[in-house]
Amino acid sequence: MSTDAVGRAYPRLEGREKVTGTARYAVEYPVDGVTYGWAVPSAVVRGRITRVDTAEALASPGVLAVVHHGNAPRLAPGVEADLWLLQEPAVHYRGELVAVVVATSLEAAREGARLVRIDYDAGPHSTVLTEDHPGLYTPDHVNPSYPTDTEEGDFDAGYAAAPVRVDATYRTPAYHNNPMEPHATTARWHDGRLLVHDSNQGASSVRAALAELFELPRESVRVVTEHVGGGFGSKGYAKAAVVLAALAARHVDRPVKLALTRQQLFGPVGYRTPTIQRVRLAADTDGRLTAICHDAMSQSSTILEFAEQTAVYTRSMYAAPHRRTTHRLVRLDVATPFWMRAPGECPGAYALESAIDELAVAVGIDPVELRIRNDTDVDPDQGRPFTSRNLAACLREGAERFGWADRDPAPRARRDGRWLIGSGVAGASYPARARPACATATARPDGGFHVRINATDIGTGARTALWQVAADALGVPPERVGISIGDSDLPNAPVAGGSMGTASWSWAVIRACEALRGKLRDGVPTDAEVSAEADTSEEVGGQPGLPRYAYGAQFAEVRVDATTGEVRLNRMLGVFAAGRVVNPTTARSQLIGGMTMGLSMALHEEGLLDERYGDWVNHDLATYHITGCADVESIEAYWLDEHDGELNPAGVKGIGEIGIVGSAAAVANAVFHATGVRIRDLPIRLDKLIGVSKLA
Ligand code: MOS
Repeated sequence: MSTDAVGRAYPRLEGREKVTGTARYAVEYPVDGVTYGWAVPSAVVRGRITRVDTAEALASPGVLAVVHHGNAPRLAPGVEADLWLLQEPAVHYRGELVAVVVATSLEAAREGARLVRIDYDAGPHSTVLTEDHPGLYTPDHVNPSYPTDTEEGDFDAGYAAAPVRVDATYRTPAYHNNPMEPHATTARWHDGRLLVHDSNQGASSVRAALAELFELPRESVRVVTEHVGGGFGSKGYAKAAVVLAALAARHVDRPVKLALTRQQLFGPVGYRTPTIQRVRLAADTDGRLTAICHDAMSQSSTILEFAEQTAVYTRSMYAAPHRRTTHRLVRLDVATPFWMRAPGECPGAYALESAIDELAVAVGIDPVELRIRNDTDVDPDQGRPFTSRNLAACLREGAERFGWADRDPAPRARRDGRWLIGSGVAGASYPARARPACATATARPDGGFHVRINATDIGTGARTALWQVAADALGVPPERVGISIGDSDLPNAPVAGGSMGTASWSWAVIRACEALRGKLRDGVPTDAEVSAEADTSEEVGGQPGLPRYAYGAQFAEVRVDATTGEVRLNRMLGVFAAGRVVNPTTARSQLIGGMTMGLSMALHEEGLLDERYGDWVNHDLATYHITGCADVESIEAYWLDEHDGELNPAGVKGIGEIGIVGSAAAVANAVFHATGVRIRDLPIRLDKLIGVSKLA
């Protein structure tokens, strides 16, 4: 028997709790005797703390303690340098969290933090990525374990010999993950055990990190992550808030709630590295690519090496006989960059898909057609066929839905009063990975079932999707199935990240449900529960390594005020091929969310760092601009009915990230088409447009 829950548009299981405000987030759990932590950021960029004067803070009403490197509980070194907090006087970047004030109320903790006096010995610093920075070097690999550079054929010769060439350098600024819920933790110790309610993207890995840092067996640490108000990658691993809360709670021997402020999210939790990307493309006169080179530069901190895989997108996207990609990195006196939605692919696709548009102009071929002409069934990087690749189908369907056929390719061809109107397109791809996971499935005598797995729902609808998958795997209506996620006491599961959550978790859920059905062949239990468990380590590890990706085509239409250079989005449309879609409602939200973030990247977001102070100038939501509803007049996401039997039992490719890939390029290409002006450093602001050309 099989049901058909997968593919149906169920509302989120926890939707009612969320809209009525009863869903509890990390610092909303009531706890007896709770205290409040407020983190103190460093006031210098690079140096050493020479003195911490806590007298005034401790004299302030309600303040219980000031925890800093001189008195904090000790952590085991060697876990991850970014987490080794309050252990030493060294300061590595401005805004590094160097103390926590604990008080009986949030207000008292905040006031206490204001009264902590810290003296520093400050040294010179370097905080800005430039293409001639003397510290640029070649890392051993780029995230997660790709070769740093690749070379096939002879790029220089191929490029020199080609009749059509593009050589362009693109720049992207730092972008800051700004989930609605900040990084936040409630921590308590009891009998040597640590319990945290924490906002993260994977409670199993946070538990592992805490166990190592505090030198506890994993069974002595429990991480509960029932609801999460977004992460976008920044909560993909244990971060400062959970470590500081656990340290503070141990120091004062009371439960501690600690949430980072909005300003404190600009740095200590990571951000998308700025990039400088040079792309060179060569083609013959019918638009067939003969040579591709993508040279990417990005930054990391002095604390640890985070080498984003910016140019990896280019390795597998379009074919050409001569190809080269390189990555260079510089370690600056800044916070360590971290994951942000489609890390690597997102900025990399902005550069490559912009350069493809420049090539389309140079060779005089429609940019949709040019991409289709350079499509390939074999991964140019691996030399093996893709499990499925529907890029061309996405481009065709997108062009049809968008109304691309009527487009006059000439820039500045459309005008409506003061508005110059243009449209742009970009391709998109994102790897379809999976990781091992464990799950259990239980049958009850009352005919109900329950599935358990430490998956994380960061607002995506993951809980609902897994529940649908479980119902079909059990062959029962979903109403008879319960599901528990978001607790490290549940069977181990990987992070909600890399667009592989649903693929990984559903794999284990399906296998556990199948095992349970095997046990129930002789009938449903009448007296006791029957359980079955699954661990997909062997099966996932033993998969043939064929290249597997989700694909997409992004279309955008903008209007640009010919006098002021103001850019407005008329509409955005994406078509995606991402395997099976489990829940159309939540999938659509993921895709249009990603596309909106790409629009935000194209036109609004920019972390501005003042080199004199080594800090972000615009570290709040008033000054760090993020696309809002009024900036999005129309945005539509569609997907192809794609069946790829090579992927995983649920047939899913993941949709958390593909929506942002290519979207900034589509908008930037539309701005060029509207104005004839190519802005190669994001965001495309009006001052840049009117700075280079008189649009009117
Ligand atoms: Mo995503 S940046 O892998 O959470």
